[in-house]
Amino acid sequence: MQGDGAGVDPVGRHRYIAGMAADADPALPILPTLPILVVPEPLLKARARRVQPGDGALIRDLVPRMFATMYQAPGIGLAAPQVGVDLRLAVVDLMPGEKPAPLVLINPEILAVSEETATREEGCLSLPGQYADVTRPARVKLRYVDPEGAGHEIEAEGLFAACLQHEVDHLDGVLFVDHLSPLKRNMILRRLAKERRLKEAG
Ligand code: NI
Repeated sequence: MQGDGAGVDPVGRHRYIAGMAADADPALPILPTLPILVVPEPLLKARARRVQPGDGALIRDLVPRMFATMYQAPGIGLAAPQVGVDLRLAVVDLMPGEKPAPLVLINPEILAVSEETATREEGCLSLPGQYADVTRPARVKLRYVDPEGAGHEIEAEGLFAACLQHEVDHLDGVLFVDHLSPLKRNMILRRLAKERRLKEAG
């Protein structure tokens, strides 16, 4: 999910993630970011495969790079298919109080959703510069596995709930525009295609 960029310090954040610790050493190397796939890339419309025990090495290598990419963008969530990796894996950080709070979601599953809905503006790093109001369940219960292999169940509301649903959607090949009316969706996709043509002509 796209962030608004307020108060973001990409370099400091990179170092934080490179060290995966609050007191990261400023001498740590800054990780290169990964290219983010943009619509209409087919992988963004595909259902990703579940992470298996044998994927450990890949995940350890990928997760810090996904965080670096997300913070650089800036975004508050990034799913593996958005960086070309067919895995049910996403990273999230809502930066509560401007402090990093990185969350790694492996094989996340939404267990329950509230009947009550909430509408908020969403954006997506795979639909750069495009925003629209999306209505989703206001609260969700989510199960996921962390990089150490421990299972967790969390309940979320507000922006956190929207972000979790947005990222789990990515693992099922669903984009925020798929929650809009066909008219609104086509308007956004046409605008994106036009902006890309202008950029390519550029
Ligand atoms: Ni997104």
